[in-house]
Amino acid sequence: MCGIFAAINSESVTSHLIKGLQDLSYRGYDSAGIAIIGKRGLQRRRAEGKIESLIHCLEAKPLEGSVGIAHTRWATHGAANQRNAHPHMTSRVAVAHNGIIENSHQLRTELESRGYRFESDTDSETIPQLITFYLNLGLAHDLALRSALARLEGSFAIAAVFDDLPNCIFAARRGSPLALGYASSGHYLASDINALKSVANQACHLEDGDLARISLQQVEITDRDNKPVERPLQMVSEQQSSNDKQGFPHYMLKEIHQQANVVKRTLGKYLPSADNAIELPLLPFNLAELQRLNIVGCGTSYYAAMIAKYWLESVASLAVDIDIASEYRYREGPVCTNSATLFISQSGETADTLAALRHAKQCGQQCISIVNVMDSSIARESHVVLPSMAGTEIGVASTKAFTAQLTVLILLCLKAAVCRGRINQTEKKRLQSQLALLPGSIASFLNSERSIWPIAHKLCTTEHILFLGRGIALPLALEGALKLKEITYIHAEAYPAGELKHGPIALVDASMPVLVVAPPGRLFAKSLSNLREVSSRGAKVILLSDQQGIDEASDYIDAAIAIPTIEPLLQPFIYTLALQLLAYHCAVLRGTDVDQPRNLAKSVTVE
Ligand code: G6P
Repeated sequence: MCGIFAAINSESVTSHLIKGLQDLSYRGYDSAGIAIIGKRGLQRRRAEGKIESLIHCLEAKPLEGSVGIAHTRWATHGAANQRNAHPHMTSRVAVAHNGIIENSHQLRTELESRGYRFESDTDSETIPQLITFYLNLGLAHDLALRSALARLEGSFAIAAVFDDLPNCIFAARRGSPLALGYASSGHYLASDINALKSVANQACHLEDGDLARISLQQVEITDRDNKPVERPLQMVSEQQSSNDKQGFPHYMLKEIHQQANVVKRTLGKYLPSADNAIELPLLPFNLAELQRLNIVGCGTSYYAAMIAKYWLESVASLAVDIDIASEYRYREGPVCTNSATLFISQSGETADTLAALRHAKQCGQQCISIVNVMDSSIARESHVVLPSMAGTEIGVASTKAFTAQLTVLILLCLKAAVCRGRINQTEKKRLQSQLALLPGSIASFLNSERSIWPIAHKLCTTEHILFLGRGIALPLALEGALKLKEITYIHAEAYPAGELKHGPIALVDASMPVLVVAPPGRLFAKSLSNLREVSSRGAKVILLSDQQGIDEASDYIDAAIAIPTIEPLLQPFIYTLALQLLAYHCAVLRGTDVDQPRNLAKSVTVE
């Protein structure tokens, strides 16, 4: 993953580089660094840890100049320390890299045998070393760069500066995103177009194979055949207040509390009034006749897909296969006729989901996506995009993006159910009016946040916990366990309640709390049996259900979170809020870094 930022203008670029890195820190925060061409030539500063460490380092040893590159790292090859922090450099060139160089070992061996000395354990350092090798052969800068890039296998976006070319930045990409911003003050590069909003008013995306030579006055882009090209410019506008916590102690809590508005906004986009028809963009397949829908995603987006499977199969009678993107892309499954594939991604840049999309397109599939970032690669490459309207999500653990995805998915489900004749107009109207009530139900549940605190106090000292769920409560249990492990580092495992006796019950004793997600409905009695089974083995049980369910289970539970009764189809929207808040408050009590938990990144742009 990692984030790259670069700037060339007529003043000092240091503050722009730092701001750019802060905007990109969702891509990784293991270390950060900058390289600048100043009065004393090409110099760099690097620091282990978050951007703040780099800022302290720059306060102690300032670095100024009008041309610079910067990097925030999520470690893949080599530990997260200063030695492995980017930019990597030789005496002639400095490079910031996002991606993975798969043949770095062979290249390093070759270069070391020629006397080149590496100072880090990274795959990325191969790039400046290889460029230097070609410079030393006498090649001009552009040619040395192209020759080096031609030897690389894997994915990259890079920004490079040469010590003897002080007025120029080079940029190139293959597989990893890179956007180029234009402003009256100069030119800027960033891994994500959103990071350009504070400096540039226009920007373009570089395409795979592009090499850009950027000076203060001009930009020259050549494509993979070395032919001059122009990439279409788009307007970028100053980011809305997403970088402001608005009084909340963490972005995650702010984003949890934005969910009523997010659902309202997403509903408003596709269902302007509860009485109207659902207005989706024209899909590249006929929902009425579609035989199978594949849904692909990673992490929380995958759990949204799992919830959609329950919805689409039971309400619209549409067969759904769900896949984790990293499995889908390599499984070589047969392509069914009359099927289509839906990709779900908050960032639109998740490497596995993007690769899965490209694979599906190659197999001739019609591909649609639900994406939150409209400038992203997945949005641009899908045949049709259904934007989720979550707004910028900064907390690494996804919350509002998930409920926005669910909102689009339930609308898709209702649309499919109508097209396929599975629900009549009366039922459609009833469900749509229930949907219209959802933002209010979300807001009112969030107002009862305090009821979660005692449970968080009970759980925050445990090191292990088992989550159980049946039916649509299974993906909720999985997502709840994911949230908890992401931000509290508690080992949380989620299982289908029906599988309990096939293994996980062996883990259960008085030291293993069990959280049971059991909404009212036809599966409640079965979940209650499982709950009793773990309770009779000494487990402390926490139940998420409505008040009636809690009353029924009262003899066997240690604690409960009462979820208001709601239209059964919409239960996931409210149950997930309780699980998000529980994870959040446990994390606060454990003192972890809620918004930027260790080892994680918001956007996983490497395999
Ligand atoms: C990372 C994030 C998760 C996210 C997953 C998929 O693991 O930390 O919050 O669910 O990637 O990301 P996407 O952007 O494709 O939804």
